[in-house]
Amino acid sequence: MTLFDSHAHCDDARYSSEYEGGTDKLIKDCFESGVANIINIGTCLESSKVSIELAHKYDGMYASCGIHPCECKSKNELEAIIDELEILLKDEKAVAIGEIGLDYHWQDVPKDIQILYFERQMALAEKLNMPVIIHDREAHGDCLEIIKRFPRVKGVFHSFSGSPEMATELVKLGWYISFSGTVTFKNARVPKEACRVVPEDRLLIETDSPYLCPTPHRGELNRPSYVFFTCEEIARQRDSDVEHIAEITYQNAKRLFNIN
Ligand code: NI
Repeated sequence: MTLFDSHAHCDDARYSSEYEGGTDKLIKDCFESGVANIINIGTCLESSKVSIELAHKYDGMYASCGIHPCECKSKNELEAIIDELEILLKDEKAVAIGEIGLDYHWQDVPKDIQILYFERQMALAEKLNMPVIIHDREAHGDCLEIIKRFPRVKGVFHSFSGSPEMATELVKLGWYISFSGTVTFKNARVPKEACRVVPEDRLLIETDSPYLCPTPHRGELNRPSYVFFTCEEIARQRDSDVEHIAEITYQNAKRLFNIN
């Protein structure tokens, strides 16, 4: 079975203190246990740089570079940050801009600044003709409104938390939908319903490691190899088999991120 974890933060500090051997051991363990590819996701300039370094160190690893809504700086710093981001994105192993988007759960960064950084990075995606990875937490309406203003930009809504209706609307607009460990949680009625309506050619899976550890490991430190449990639950929900879901999500990720 070939698994593709489309969203992980293997450089997270928790791996150095809580995973025996740290980030490098974690990545090696995951590649040895059936994960073929991992996209390491940047959330700021620093973690975007680290993502590129990791991608050069491991064949199966790719990088996404972007400014997370909770990591936005001031309005004045925006253009300098975009310039640096653009240089990083020219790297041959940078496959997407992300994670970018809106987070209305944590109010550390004012909404208007989040929106400004999101729109600017969507414009950059349009300019560079690259896919984007969207973080949408409790901001479904505004995220939809913004992506519709950039019809040439496509990508994926990561760790999808919207309704089946929203998933259907995104698919119609040409987007992919990625499900994380939350779909395995017992009371996750809405994500379970949503994962049933996404067409086969638009489905992705991810861990969002070290967060969102799936059942039966809930509460532990998550790792890319646990993407298997999300794959298994989606197969169950769709009356499919785990090998088939692994294969289609692998092919979809390769297509979206232009990986040969
Ligand atoms: Ni993430």
